[in-house]
Amino acid sequence: MKILVIGSGGREHALVWKIQQSALVDKIYCAPGNPGIAQHAECVDISPTDISRLLEFAVKQKIDLTVPGPEAPLVQGIVDEFEAKGLAIFGPSQKAAELEGSKAFAKWLMRKYRIPTADWQVFYDAEEARRHLRERDYPCVIKADGLAAGKGAVIVQDEQQAEHALEEIMVRRVFGEAGAKIVVEEFMRGEEASVFALSDGENVVLLHPAQDHKPIFDGDQGPNTGGMGAYAPAPVVDAAMQERVLREIIEPTIRGMAMENRPYRGVLYAGLMITDSGPKVVEFNCRFGDPEAQVVMPLLDSDLVELMLKAAHRELLDVEIALKNQWAVGVVMASGGYPGKYQTGKKIIGLEKLTDEDILIFHAGTRRNEAGEIVTAGGRVLSVVAVRDTFQAARKAAYAAVGKIVFDGAYYRKDIGFKALKHLVGNMPS
Ligand code: AMP
Ligand code: GLY
Repeated sequence: MKILVIGSGGREHALVWKIQQSALVDKIYCAPGNPGIAQHAECVDISPTDISRLLEFAVKQKIDLTVPGPEAPLVQGIVDEFEAKGLAIFGPSQKAAELEGSKAFAKWLMRKYRIPTADWQVFYDAEEARRHLRERDYPCVIKADGLAAGKGAVIVQDEQQAEHALEEIMVRRVFGEAGAKIVVEEFMRGEEASVFALSDGENVVLLHPAQDHKPIFDGDQGPNTGGMGAYAPAPVVDAAMQERVLREIIEPTIRGMAMENRPYRGVLYAGLMITDSGPKVVEFNCRFGDPEAQVVMPLLDSDLVELMLKAAHRELLDVEIALKNQWAVGVVMASGGYPGKYQTGKKIIGLEKLTDEDILIFHAGTRRNEAGEIVTAGGRVLSVVAVRDTFQAARKAAYAAVGKIVFDGAYYRKDIGFKALKHLVGNMPS
């Protein structure tokens, strides 16, 4: 089979790495890819949002399965366009991808199907929102309705901060049309986790739950980033909690989407808050997480391509998924200054030293310079992932590998997995 993966981040590198292990696969293309992905796939210079060129490429190359990594093409309707041409593609239709594309839609669905989430209200009008903000309790969270590259949610402590956020999102439109509507919601306390379900529109299988680290600094301080590291499985979602997440969140969502005539095929990523009263949805995404995919893929034993084909062809009923009974810890190495301004073009040294089979280096913001050397080309540069039999061993191995990679201004968090340690202390064999 010929597979086309769309995207160029660490998530797509992890997907390509997993896909190339499938016995079903002869050839992988990636649009546009990166130098890490190029180890396993032929990179083609097409933008992830250029759907007509992607379609033309897929038809010409007779691609058997297309796998979009990021949300943008999904929300734009790439699945509908590929399926209209009879091409298999793993992901939700445009109407189903609204679960990520519109927070107001997601909230409405959760209310209708009694899926636990923060109490919320949606506002189409700034004056009406202002009136509400004068009267409500704090803290609360103000969110732009549409896609805002993970930066559309602001936690506000009082009316003044709320007014400022409202002004930015709805009046100044710093996220553009994504801010035409806002959602104001209750602030939830608890620990966050990411749960990934593969669905064929009716049936689901779950991957290992993971935990991301969004803030830039240790101890979850500072501004949010795309994610500075992840690990799996996340002990905050133990077997009993996973069962609740499945029954209270994943299944009702898939059932609700089918009832609404928007059958959800692809990966459903539930961003959860594990609160004292149980799991609640922070947000839904219609794709794998980044950097979560980099730790979830290495723990998947089953053939990913087979699972994706079954999801695309509505054949997931009774499929058993095999997951490794191990731990994966991934540390993101970023350019100094990220998520603010940073420099690029810095030579990355040490990659060739890491040949240990159990150390995985997934590329994100990298490119080759004229001399053919790998240099930095973005904010998040690499995910360094170790898979081991214990959490502590995985963490130690990941950081040991990070210590061998050098580039000017490299920054990484030193505490990836600190919340796992809290759960595991006391449960560890001595
Ligand atoms: P979102 O853009 O919805 O993914 O939100 C980004 C981040 O803001 C989440 O990962 C949470 O850390 C935080 N957040 C969003 N909504 C809430 C909420 N209702 N309560 C507490 N934290 C939240
Ligand atoms: N890890 C957060 C995201 O992919 O949205």
